[in-house]
Amino acid sequence: MTADPARGRARFGPGSHLLVTGGAGFIGSCFVREILARHDGTRITVLDKLTYAGNRANLAAIEADPEQADRLRFVLGDIADPAVVGPLVEDVDAVVNFAAESHVDRSIHDPEAFLVTGVIGVHVLLEACRREATRAAAGQRATPPRFLQVSTDEVYGSVETGHSREDDRLEPRSPYSAAKAAGELLARSYFVTHGLDVVVTRGSNTYGPYHHPEKLIPLFITNAIDDRPLPLYGDGLQRRDWLHVSDHAGAIEHVLQFGHPGEVYNVPGSAELPNRDVVTRLLDLLGKPWSLVRQVDDRPGHDRRYALDGTKLRGLGWRNRMSFDEGLAATVAWFGANEAWWRAARSGDWDDYYERQYGARLAGSVDAAGG
Ligand code: NAD
Ligand code: DAU
Repeated sequence: MTADPARGRARFGPGSHLLVTGGAGFIGSCFVREILARHDGTRITVLDKLTYAGNRANLAAIEADPEQADRLRFVLGDIADPAVVGPLVEDVDAVVNFAAESHVDRSIHDPEAFLVTGVIGVHVLLEACRREATRAAAGQRATPPRFLQVSTDEVYGSVETGHSREDDRLEPRSPYSAAKAAGELLARSYFVTHGLDVVVTRGSNTYGPYHHPEKLIPLFITNAIDDRPLPLYGDGLQRRDWLHVSDHAGAIEHVLQFGHPGEVYNVPGSAELPNRDVVTRLLDLLGKPWSLVRQVDDRPGHDRRYALDGTKLRGLGWRNRMSFDEGLAATVAWFGANEAWWRAARSGDWDDYYERQYGARLAGSVDAAGG
């Protein structure tokens, strides 16, 4: 892993061993691919339950390269299972926890898995780290593991004006964001109570290759390719700040290396836009008409806006590299070139999910005036 003398000593160098939970998902797999592709000797164990959102194919590029494949171990399992987690944590320098149920709409219908993974799962990982810290104190290992909890801007709730700072109140408003807030608060409690080396990132709306097609950008790209309707919630004027997945993964690695124990770091995007503008840009890139867009019933409790203040992360030396224009064009091109990947992600119980989420909404939809 890279060292940056200007920021102080990097915690993890070549030869480090990381446990990446949820590493077969969208952002976790990008983190794993980018680190292993550097060929610096870093080893990664991925622990992933392979829920509907996890996909071994997201790691295929690594597995196709013998040098990288040698430094990757994949373990199929649940972060909420102490028997699986304990031995894995014994062997690593840091745990980076991406594992979560990540879709707000699913948390509205079916919140239980969000709580089990987002709260109990985090607790199991923290307890395993605590045991390792005790072993380190007893001289049974060199250093205790660092624990990085990947959290979200949604913990601040809907932010009508201004930009959220790390010490703002947490006001989560969906079962998803409430579970994420619980998970990160638990992690920080282990820093305060047990002196564990914990850092937290709060990232904004992420997009890019390998994004599951349930989310706005990949859903609208893949529906538009098939000339299917694009279900825009409510007036479509909700605002999100879009962060390219490689910038999100890079920021998480930067905090892992240089973040101060017990601290939280916002990871803002590169473009705050209303959803309607995002859809207009997507349709332009795809050469598809606005008439595909249907205005449907809004998401219950829909957060109107997220916006992060990134001063603290900039102070640590991180800057995003990808502009939204460049990143969106590359993302549209990736989905165009990887139809087999997204068609597979839209199989299995996808049709049942889609009918439950959009059937009645689309039946009652109206023309989404504008464009
Ligand atoms: P994702 O849904 O694509 O991936 C989640 C991964 O976690 C999947 O591989 C899944 O199989 C795995 N997983 C789920 N439950 C598990 C369990 N109990 N044990 C082991 N593995 C399990 O999610 P993502 O979009 O890549 O998000 C990753 C993390 O980043 C999440 O914690 C999410 O809350 C956070 N985040 C996401 C965004 C975003 O816009 N996507 C923004 C900010 C923060
Ligand atoms: O802000 C960070 C969060 O971003 C992450 O923590 C979540 O894991 C991630 O899923 C994402 O949450 P959002 O709810 O903002 O993302 P989603 O892609 O579901 O929706 C983006 C916006 O688009 C939101 O205002 C809802 C709207 N939308 C979404 C879908 C799926 C639609 O209008 N129609 C849709 O069909």
